[in-house]
Amino acid sequence: MNVTIHTDRLLSELHHLALLTDCPPTQDKSLPEPTQAVTRIIFTPRDLEARAWLTALAEAAGFSVRVDAVGNTFIRWDGTDPSLGAVGTGSHTDAIPYSGMYDGTVGVLGGLEAMRALKESGFTPKRSIETLMFTSEEPTRFGIGCLGSRLAGGVLDPEAADKLLDRLPETDPSAPAGLHLGEVREAAGFNGTLASVKLPKGYYDAWVELHIEQGPLLEREGIALGIVTGIAAPASYRYTVEGFGGHAGALLMPFRRDALCAAAEMILSVEKHALAANAKSGGVDTVATVGMVGVHPGAVNSVPSRVTLTLDIRDTDVVRRDGVMAAFHEDIAAIEKNRRVKITEEFINADAPAKSSEHIVETLEAICKAEGASYKKMVSRAYHDSTFMAAVVPIAMVFIPCRAGVSHRPDEYSTPEAIALGTRVVALALAKLANE
Ligand code: GLV
Ligand code: MN
Ligand code: MN
Repeated sequence: MNVTIHTDRLLSELHHLALLTDCPPTQDKSLPEPTQAVTRIIFTPRDLEARAWLTALAEAAGFSVRVDAVGNTFIRWDGTDPSLGAVGTGSHTDAIPYSGMYDGTVGVLGGLEAMRALKESGFTPKRSIETLMFTSEEPTRFGIGCLGSRLAGGVLDPEAADKLLDRLPETDPSAPAGLHLGEVREAAGFNGTLASVKLPKGYYDAWVELHIEQGPLLEREGIALGIVTGIAAPASYRYTVEGFGGHAGALLMPFRRDALCAAAEMILSVEKHALAANAKSGGVDTVATVGMVGVHPGAVNSVPSRVTLTLDIRDTDVVRRDGVMAAFHEDIAAIEKNRRVKITEEFINADAPAKSSEHIVETLEAICKAEGASYKKMVSRAYHDSTFMAAVVPIAMVFIPCRAGVSHRPDEYSTPEAIALGTRVVALALAKLANE
């Protein structure tokens, strides 16, 4: 099969999508390649603009497009045997504030390019092939990552999902407060019950997601591609610390119940326990991050009375992750007592790791060998939509190197050659899996 990936076409589409951003144009002149800071939050006018552009692109290539109740977008090429399950690829196009232009987008536009290239080569698929663009892989707006793929995989209760609070007002004071996913998606034009989003078993028979590595290993080791054998297990929580505020001059130190000082102890506690878990295992698989802190009332001369913070904790081993949380909970109880504050925990998610299908991993290895592409089998430390697709379909992922492992930053970068190679391997895998 003579498949040609049109790298220029794919690159120009990636750059076009990058310009659909709510960051001001910020080409960083200090970097050798053009980069664009991207903010594309789900269901904002910018996201809707990107969706309309993607749909037009897919239809122009001769594919049909279907959108489900949460906005997951299915770009479909019908196979000759409709009785067989489809083969899927895809990722996300939403982007956290001030991030890069390759996270997720390479998997969506690369998937579309893979389908186009196969079609142009004259290939006829027996199984249908689809590229999916998932809604809200990033947790920015509704507090939980992989919203679309969780619902598609049936691992998030649809009624609870519709009640997820819209957190946009926390960072954008012009956004209306008190709305929930149900209202926001309907206002954006995505109707129907969320229960309808779950994919029936057998809808897909195989799934391969293309993504940038978001870590440094491939580049450091000079390896062209990563074949993902498993995805680390993510968990997240939100905390509120309530203390007692007052005048920064007049409220004397012995009488303080400073919520921010208590939160600072919490942040250092979870870091300490994550480091201890790594020291004990001799590895680096436990990671814990407090990425958001909200301070009330937030004034130079006011003692913080209330603090909110988020915790993102991940591990390849759920038991070890639970151990860190248990140690953290003990510290929380001590901090509450010693500092006379009230700490409440809101559980958001605690997921299991995902395991790739041996068959799809072997298929990818065979393709890499035939193409003369170096590869290594590796674990994904970032989560991906594939984590939750694994509940309804055998999955695997292909990673391409990204410069210095940088991601979730505007200077995120992958070379055109790496993007083209990853797309080619995914195209060949889709073709192979579609005709099995
Ligand atoms: C995905 O963006 C992640 O946080 O792993
Ligand atoms: Mn991301
Ligand atoms: Mn991503």
